[in-house]
Amino acid sequence: MRIALGCDHGGFPLKQRIVALVQAAGHEVVDCGTDSACSVDYPDYALKVGEKILSGAADRGVLLCGSGVGISVAANKIPGIRAGICHDTYSAHQGVEHDDMNVICLGARIVGEELAVELVAAFLKAQFTHEERHVRRLNKVLEIEREALEGKFKRN
Ligand code: RB5
Repeated sequence: MRIALGCDHGGFPLKQRIVALVQAAGHEVVDCGTDSACSVDYPDYALKVGEKILSGAADRGVLLCGSGVGISVAANKIPGIRAGICHDTYSAHQGVEHDDMNVICLGARIVGEELAVELVAAFLKAQFTHEERHVRRLNKVLEIEREALEGKFKRN
């Protein structure tokens, strides 16, 4: 697979280990930056990774920030992106198997390098099951997304 990898300065300390893991697992890294520990804005990198997936330039994504929170919130604003923070290996594979998660988000200030590598490895190995109940639930998620795009949900 082609894996879009993006991070802010908070996620940058994990970046090279994740690049090495993705490549060692036989996948291609689509590098979306950032390339240093200089302060940047995490939504910019969530958008870059989301665009790669939507354009077909990448199959899945990995996003890294300090906590994993900001970058997952930003990524989930992009229709078609299903991003989850996964700081345990069960969620890292189950999120793909049940929920068709296409982006994993990690907090580099929360997980160490060795756990991060195991999390991304579990994410990369997992496949959506296509079981009826999971497809039904995914379709409900996609329907919420469609309705939001049509302007159904208004905040007072
Ligand atoms: C950057 O300092 C930090 O706020 C960011 O990496 C992330 O943790 C936000 O959720």
